[in-house]
Amino acid sequence: MHWAARMTRRPRCVPETVRPWNPVEREEGGETGRILYDGSSVQTIRVETPSARYDVIAGSGLIATLAPRIERIAGRLPRRVFVVTSPEIWGLWGEMFAGSFAEAPIALFLPPGEKHKSLASVEKLLRQMAQAGGDRGSLLIAFGGGIVGDVGGFVAATFMRGIPYVQAPTTFLAQVDSSVGGKVGVNLPEGKNLVGNFHHPLAVFADIGVLGTLPDRELRAGLMESVKAGIIRDRMLVRYMEEHVGDVLGRDAKALEKVIAASIRMKAEVVNKDEREGGLRMILNLGHTLGHAIEQVTRYKALLHGEAVGWGMVAALYLARQRGMITSRQAERMESLIYLYGPLPPLKVRAAKLVAATGADKKNVGGVRRFVLPLGIGDARVVEDVTAAEMEAAAKYMLARAEERHA
Ligand SMILES: NC(=O)c1ccc[n+]([C@@H]2O[C@H](COP(=O)([O-])OP(=O)(O)OC[C@H]3O[C@@H](n4cnc5c(N)ncnc54)[C@H](O)[C@@H]3O)[C@@H](O)[C@H]2O)c1
Ligand SMILES: [Zn+2]
Repeated sequence: MHWAARMTRRPRCVPETVRPWNPVEREEGGETGRILYDGSSVQTIRVETPSARYDVIAGSGLIATLAPRIERIAGRLPRRVFVVTSPEIWGLWGEMFAGSFAEAPIALFLPPGEKHKSLASVEKLLRQMAQAGGDRGSLLIAFGGGIVGDVGGFVAATFMRGIPYVQAPTTFLAQVDSSVGGKVGVNLPEGKNLVGNFHHPLAVFADIGVLGTLPDRELRAGLMESVKAGIIRDRMLVRYMEEHVGDVLGRDAKALEKVIAASIRMKAEVVNKDEREGGLRMILNLGHTLGHAIEQVTRYKALLHGEAVGWGMVAALYLARQRGMITSRQAERMESLIYLYGPLPPLKVRAAKLVAATGADKKNVGGVRRFVLPLGIGDARVVEDVTAAEMEAAAKYMLARAEERHA
């Protein structure tokens, strides 16, 4: 089943508890006579946590057929459908997006950039919804990258104490990572993602076609999350990514669909077992302890998130090898995979500064320094006894590798 491309399966009805507005049973092709599906192959991955059950659908042609797809899941669309997006994305894909709606959704814009992932933006969007007559039955669609998804999801979580929403992620990173799992929120001037909630979407539609306009650097950075997915949970994905670099980077639809679906499946499986990061979900943070430290020390300007995570994984591989959790050969193989999907930007930081920055990591609870390390290829463990000296050695290794590659 793992790699088998599945034929389109009609999305099932979501359970009663998450049905947002009075759904109507509708005959196929009846009522409006609009074409419901374009027949493209898609993959469906199920998320099932104690608080929500929904499908993540990945494939081609999803944006052009969004309205009927949502109706299939949740019944007739409500009077007010809001789409939170960025002007750039709307300019590229808005027409296609709006095409499947009988009545155009109300577009609300969030300018691009992490600085707009703020409470000020949330307030603005909430007020625009209120002014446009939004109510508890309204639907919100977050159509954009991870920033739009996090902000849009948070707006949906808080407007009238929570309205249903749909994720339509448009970056590789958002498709394989941020749109799945229900974490929504914004930054404070004091730090990233310090305000938020869990609010699961009704469904996620990851349309591979919209990745066509994504800048190459964004694609490669997002692919680091797939490399991570393979390393921690899926050795077949590691192998596939090794063998299909050209296809994936060349944006071959089938190759992208495979990598995206496998990455989503990995995340969904982890989230299904541990919705609130009590234990297992923590393994998703491989490469993120030092990755976040790099982002913080470079003030989120020099590297994209995925690039910082790529370097963080290089450090984690070193540490795991030192501890005998992986062999040198395995470490080399996985490090090479990271560089295959690079290039990762140079690092102009000091090891001690990075180690100091990891002290503020959100994953550290009660002073325990948590660190995710690979165990062989396709498995990982959270360890709690990593010393500052070990961390510094790993950071130094990573910096040396960065210097070597940019010499
Ligand atoms: N909620 C979670 O679980 C979770 C997980 C990981 C990351 N995140 C968050 O995600 C955010 C990063 O998301 P991101 O990497 O998607 O960045 P992003 O949302 O900033 O998007 C990157 C850039 O690509 C542009 N863009 C998006 N789609 C495009 C397309 N199809 N064609 C052309 N340009 C396009 C955007 O306008 C933006 O300029 C961070 O704020 C991070 O904290 C959240
Ligand atoms: Zn990440």
